[in-house]
Parts: sequence; C-alpha cells; structure tokens
Amino acid sequence: MAYAAFRSIGAYAPRKILTNEDLSKMVDTTDEWITKRTGIKERHIAEKNETTSDMGVEAAKKAIERSGIDKSEIDMVICATISPDYFCMPSTATIIANKLSLGHVTAFDISAACTGFVYILSIAKAFIESGMKKNVLIIGAEKLSAITDYTDRGTCILFGDGAGAAIISATDNRDEAIIDIHTGSDGTYADLLMTPNGGSGSIHDSIDQESKACFMQMKGNETFKVAVRTLTKDVVEILDTNSIESSQITHFIPHQANLRIIKAVGEALKLNDNQVVITVEKYGNTSGASIPMAINEIYENGSLKAGELMLLDAFGGGLTWGSALVPFSPTLK
Ligand code: UT7
Repeated sequence: MAYAAFRSIGAYAPRKILTNEDLSKMVDTTDEWITKRTGIKERHIAEKNETTSDMGVEAAKKAIERSGIDKSEIDMVICATISPDYFCMPSTATIIANKLSLGHVTAFDISAACTGFVYILSIAKAFIESGMKKNVLIIGAEKLSAITDYTDRGTCILFGDGAGAAIISATDNRDEAIIDIHTGSDGTYADLLMTPNGGSGSIHDSIDQESKACFMQMKGNETFKVAVRTLTKDVVEILDTNSIESSQITHFIPHQANLRIIKAVGEALKLNDNQVVITVEKYGNTSGASIPMAINEIYENGSLKAGELMLLDAFGGGLTWGSALVPFSPTLK
C-alpha cells in the first residue's frame, strides 16, 4: 500500500501591510481593542491586480522547489479558497496549474473556508493511498480583501491575504506517512459566517455592492464560542484515536483566527508555548491559507525539522472543522 508523505511547504504574503493604526482611521476601532481581542497587529493585502491564483503560484513554486521533485511529476492540483479568481469557473486550481505549466493534470477547487487546507490534505492523502495519484500539489490561497467590507469593524480587522502550498507524495515508508486526518461539518450553523450574495441561493438579483451582501458577514461572538468548543474536542479526539499524547506533538499549528482561541485550545491540551505556532499577529486571518503559511513560517525560521510531528487544527465557515497528525517528511538528499 502507498502512504502519503508531507514533503515540502511554501508560502507567499503580498508586500502591502495594513496595520491596526491604519484601520483605526477607517472604522471606529483602536489598536488596543484589536490586539486585546484578537492578537492581530497587521495583515498583508494584495494589490488590486494581484489575484488569488498569482499568490498561489508564488507559494507553489517554493513548495515544488523544496520538494525535490520535478514539476512534470505532479499529477493533481487542489486549491482551497473562498476568494477564487472567478466565482463558479474556471477553478483557481486550473489557473494555477496553467501558470505553472503543469500540463493536463487533474485540477479542482474545494470550498471549506478556514478548514480548507485540512480538507485538501485529506483528499490528497486519499488519492495517494488509493494509488490513483503520486504527487499532489495542494494550495490554500485567499484574497479576502476582495470580499471584506471595510466599513464593518466586526470583520475588516480580522482578515488578510496570502497563500501557502505543499507537496504530498506517495511513499512506501510508513514512518514518513501522514498518520490521520479527521474532518467534519455542521450546516445548522451556516448563517454564522457567510457571503450572502452571488450563489444560486442568493436572495439578491445581482452582485450588489450597495447591499454589502457580496462581502463576508460573521456573527463573531457566537462563532468564537463554537470555535473553542469544536477545535478542542476535535484535537482531543484525533490524539485519543491514535494513542498519541500531546507531549509528543512538536508543533501545534491551529488555524490563525484569534489568539484567544489558540490559547484556549493550547491550554486545554496542556501544550507549552514552544509547541504552539502563532502567526496571527503578522498575517491576521487568511482562512484556507493560514495553516500552510504558519507551517512555512516555522520551516523558514529553521524550527521545523524532518521527522517532527505536526498537529494541524482548523475551523471555519460551513461550519467546518478538521485536524491532522502529520510528520514532516522532506525528501532527504
Ligand atoms: O476563521 C473562521 C472562524 N472565525 C473565528 O473563529 C473568529 C471568531 N470570533 C472572534 O474572533 C471574535 O468574536 C471577534 C474578534 C470577532 C470579536 O471579539 P468578541 O470578544 O467576541 O467581541 P464582541 O463581538 O462580543 O463585541 C464586544 C464589543 C461590542 O460592543 P458592545 O456591544 O459591548 O458595546 C462590539 O460592538 O466590542 C465591539 N466591537 C468593537 N470595538 C472596537 C466589535 N468590533 C470592534 C472593533 N473595535 N473592531
């Protein structure tokens, strides 16, 4: 049987930075409020002509280069995004595959909001274990600034742009394999976090900026409570199922939505500060891109080493959630 190994990581953040100070001139808020309630200090914002696929391509180039495989060996591309280049079609994955000249690979997007990266990791794992694919490029990429209402202080202080990518490859070596991935959803909470316009269920006749229904809307406080409860339950379950103690986790990499949520889950798991990866202060919430951007951060600062165990934990619109136990298994030269 083939196993799926997490070979490499890459990420990209646009150059332009939007600070809490900047936001305090746009809406009724302060740096103090944002820092205390979310831990966010700044977020990166894409240029007007910079698309989700452009950012995905930059992250993917790094992941491919670091994987040691030739790009001609990639046989599938999956992109997790809620801010695709085009709503409906073509998918952002096909655009990325084309920009990278990957040929006629299988390519598609999935929509699982901030849980997107864990979902595409699970899809890549399943395709590889079934023998259908050998090298899968997975990308979480978001231009959330395009769907953010910069007059709504409840959401505009949270979100940023960026992309992260990884290569997942087939291996015979069980020690390199992704151990387990759990995913779930609960559509009864669909209205907590949504963009009301633009789909077949839309009550609006057209994409209408006036009504603000084309922007993200969130019932923040209710979402917060479900997030803490669900994330904690989810990681406890995946550790129990696999008889792994939290002390065996080298890097806990949660979705970067809010520092208070991350701290609450870390404390529930009795993790020490060295185990918990936090990037929310620099990038804000980049939805499906947040986990791979955080993995890239510890890769680039030299603290992610071959064989170390990562615990990924995500939560987002849908509502959706997922967790994954993933050893970092770069190709050793
Ligand atoms: O990524 C996917 C999932 N997303 C999440 O997990 C995010 C979940 N939610 C959150 O992170 C938090 O709920 C927020 C950061 C969005 C809000 O923090 P909170 O502690 O839940 O605040 P709140 O919504 O209960 O609002 C408290 C007060 C309210 O004023 P009153 O009613 O007490 O007078 C808000 O109007 O803070 C006010 N407020 C603000 N004040 C200054 C809300 N946003 C702001 C703001 N600046 N930006």
